[in-house]
Amino acid sequence: MSQDDDKRRAALAAADEVKDGMLVGLGTGSTAVFLIDELGRRFAGGLRFRAVATSLSSEAQAKALGIEVLPFADVAAIDLAIDGTDEIDPQFRAIKGAGGAMLREKCVAASATRMIVIADGSKQVAQLGTMPVPCETLPFALAFVRAAVERLGARVVLRTKSDEPYRTDQGNFVLDCHFGPIAAPAELAAQLSSIPGMIGHGLFIDEVDAFYISDAGQLIVKERLLSD
Ligand code: 5RP
Repeated sequence: MSQDDDKRRAALAAADEVKDGMLVGLGTGSTAVFLIDELGRRFAGGLRFRAVATSLSSEAQAKALGIEVLPFADVAAIDLAIDGTDEIDPQFRAIKGAGGAMLREKCVAASATRMIVIADGSKQVAQLGTMPVPCETLPFALAFVRAAVERLGARVVLRTKSDEPYRTDQGNFVLDCHFGPIAAPAELAAQLSSIPGMIGHGLFIDEVDAFYISDAGQLIVKERLLSD
């Protein structure tokens, strides 16, 4: 079973949580592509739900499949968000944003009554920090934010695309911040959030309620307990 098979399996299983009448947050990334495709099939088969999207690419995919996508600017709360992840630890804390959509993803996740992560087994980690933490940064404050994150101990790399600074859907830059193993994710998240000019970062501390992970063909579904 390939990594893509695992992504598809997790996405299809999570799609079962989408019910008639729901307002659903659509994630971003290759696993979310499988989810949106599946939801498009179910929509064509008569399932009736509406969506908000966490990126322009997910919005375009959903609309092409006939799914009604509302502007998130008009939406205060949604029923369910389903999204991929880059890392997830046993306490349901995650690093997201390899695809650059972490700011919209976090807004949509925070607005959701329930937020589910879908992933292949490679995303499960004992401790966050193998991946860099993507930090969406106001271009005006680039040098200031970079220096502030470096003072927190990270090696900071400005994300590029075709030799130009990568731009998010909002037109901002992304600093990929390599901290190494993150001993205290909540404290780091708070420190990053307090930097003026840092618009958002990919550390998700409280947002994830459950995950669907397919690891070499085996589906694992876990719910966050009050004690987690
Ligand atoms: C995009 C994200 C994605 O959810 C994350 O990068 C996972 O992507 P994939 O499903 O392609 O592995 O956070 O900003």
